[in-house]
This record gives sequence, structure tokens and C-alpha cells, in this order.
Amino acid sequence: MEVTPSILTADFCKLGETLDEAIEAGLNWIHMDVMDGNWVINKTITFGPAIIRSVRDRLGEDVFIDCHLMISNAEETWIQYVDAGVDMVIAHIEAVQDFPELIRRIHSTGVQVGCVLNPDTPVSDVMPLLPELDLVLVMSVVPGKGGQSFMPQVENKVREFRKAIDEQEKSGGKTPILMIDGGIKHHNAAMIADWGIDIAVVGSGLINDNAPISHNLNEIQKALESGQSTH
Ligand code: DX5
Ligand code: ZN
Repeated sequence: MEVTPSILTADFCKLGETLDEAIEAGLNWIHMDVMDGNWVINKTITFGPAIIRSVRDRLGEDVFIDCHLMISNAEETWIQYVDAGVDMVIAHIEAVQDFPELIRRIHSTGVQVGCVLNPDTPVSDVMPLLPELDLVLVMSVVPGKGGQSFMPQVENKVREFRKAIDEQEKSGGKTPILMIDGGIKHHNAAMIADWGIDIAVVGSGLINDNAPISHNLNEIQKALESGQSTH
């Protein structure tokens, strides 16, 4: 299982240095959490395309950047994120009216598309899109902020997606990446890897005041190698 950092717990005055630290630690995928002050229940604003453009310019083309859009109007504004240089747009199934059309439009620009679902949204809402998607993201917290507790009840959802993706691959279809986001730490990393997750978003577990990113990443990698989850 791979890991991608969410930067929500970073000191934004030191964002460049923090990103450099993440890249030096060996991370090559950055997860950018966009909130518009409207869609998430706590009405938070994070950042938008201008900051993403700065991140792209700083990190160059070798780093993969996704934007996780927790916004009301992704269908109107997705092009701004494409123009800002993302490799993948991840939009919420709950926030988009015509998802197949959104996929077609984003794909026509050459950018990849992910679909994300909230902890209480059924997998059946996303399954029909599976043949066209590049990634499925299962939220393991209610979106809105970093540092929340992991919701273990998403296990069945993850396993259902894993099974469907594997079946689709066997029948010659696309193999969307299976991602999870929220509350992932070294103590539960091995458990979610065992569920079949390809890549985990880790925010406060990687970027915190306790230890450098390289140390925190190493703890996660050690946990993955040992296969042990503590709770
Ligand atoms: C939640 C965001 C996240 C999250 C990850 O709204 O999508 O990516 O902040 O942070 P941690 O790992 O701290 O839960
Ligand atoms: Zn996210």
C-alpha cells in the first residue's frame, strides 16, 4: 500500500518546505483537500486553484497531484483545477448531478478522474461509474477537517469495491485505484492494506509537530511490513 500526504495540518506559511520534506521522504503523490466554505458540514475554507498552481510549479511534473474537491460546484469549476496543473480531479458523488458527463469532460482534457463517497453513502451509488473511473476514494471520516477518528465501519465498503475492481480487471476493463482518506495512522495502516486499499491519504499522521515526515512515514512502513495493527 502506498501513502499520499494531505497537507491540511501543515503550517501554510511553511508549505513549500513541508512539501519538499515529503518529497525527500520518498512520497511522490500529493493530495490537495479543497473546501469552499459551503459543502462540508463545518463550512471550512481551505485553498483553491492558485495554491495548487504554486505547488505544481514548486514540485515540477514528476510528482502526481490530485485535488479532492469538497465543494458545491465541481461541475462548474473543475477546469480551474485542471488549469492549475492537477493530474487527477476527485469529485464527490453526493455533490455532482451528472457524474458520467463530468468524467467525459475531465477525460477530454487528458486529466484523470476519481469519485469519492462519504461514510454513509452506499457503494451502489458509485458502482455504475466503475468502468470509467481512474480512482475510487472511500472516506473513512466525515469530510471537513484533518485529525478526526477513523471509522472502521467502512470495511465492508472497501472490500466490496476491491472485489468489483478485481472482477473488472479480470474481464479486461480498467483497474481504478482504491484509495481511503481520513484517520489513517501507523496503528491502522496494516489493517486497511489487508482490506485491499492501494493508497492511503494520511494527514495528521504524517504532518504533525511530534516528528518529521520521514520518521512518521517510516513508522507506517514498518507497520505495513510487520502486518500488525494495534487497534
Ligand atoms: C478530510 C480530508 C482529509 C483529511 C486527512 O476532510 O479529506 O484528506 O484531512 O487528514 P487525517 O489523516 O488527519 O484524517
Ligand atoms: Zn481528502
